[in-house]
Amino acid sequence: MSRIVYVNGRYVPYAKAAVHVEDRGFQFADAVYEVCQVRNGHLVDEARHMARLARSLSELKIPAPMSAGALAHVMRETIRRNRVNDGVVYLQVTRGEGPREFVFPSQDVPRTVVCIARAFAPDLQDATAADGIAVKTLPDIRWRRADIKTVMLLPACLAKEAARGDGAREAWLVDDKGFVTEGASSNAWIVSREGTVITRQIAPAILAGVTRATLIDLLREEKVAYEERAFRISEALEAREAFITSATNTVMPVVSIDGRPIGEGRPGPLTLRLRSKFDQFAVISGA
Ligand code: PDD
Repeated sequence: MSRIVYVNGRYVPYAKAAVHVEDRGFQFADAVYEVCQVRNGHLVDEARHMARLARSLSELKIPAPMSAGALAHVMRETIRRNRVNDGVVYLQVTRGEGPREFVFPSQDVPRTVVCIARAFAPDLQDATAADGIAVKTLPDIRWRRADIKTVMLLPACLAKEAARGDGAREAWLVDDKGFVTEGASSNAWIVSREGTVITRQIAPAILAGVTRATLIDLLREEKVAYEERAFRISEALEAREAFITSATNTVMPVVSIDGRPIGEGRPGPLTLRLRSKFDQFAVISGA
């Protein structure tokens, strides 16, 4: 079966899918995006993803290309046409195309909308989670509006490439004061010696992860103590457990930071419990 991509109102074969060379997404990274997990052919956490997309658009004054309901329909239709049962769906909205000028074009310029769905085997993710991942720390060199989910991802690419060079799957970004902001494409968490789950508070320095928000709901339900505050690498190295969250990884154990083991250097029991709780939620939410 050939893959189908949504581009500006049409569902086209993957090989034929294209946008204009003077699209502002291409020229200026003047675009926002969402990545949603797909379970059983359904979107996980749809409402939160659509709310965040609306916020990203509004922060950048990009007029919404269509209603949230219509955008969600595009995502569902892309999933359906590609017969994705488990995987991810990617939606990007750019300010549209036009001669390369820094100032915004007229509001009438149609926004570019692209949607791509990709299947992946949950077993592979689970195999990675069984071992846990290594993390490398790097200075956070991003702009100061990491709360907006823009496609301006070069710092994340550089960080992940540097991490890969050291055999690490994710980079944890550290701010000027020595506190971890978040992962290059995930939120960062630790579990203290006392068993308190800690992740940085929502602020312009980090993306308000959808998985993060849902996990906080689950922590409340499970009556697990948690704190939303910044932590340093030194505190993370003393932690009992560490993990990351994102739509693509859900809850993924971190077993080492800069080559130094966290806890016993194995995925922590609370992390694995939270991963399985999240999985149950995803299956229900995608039912
Ligand atoms: N990344 N922080 C950053 C910088 C991210 O890029 C992401 C997601 C997250 C986690 O957000 P969520 O739980 O809503 O996925 C945090 C996506 C998956 C990506 O760029 O592929």
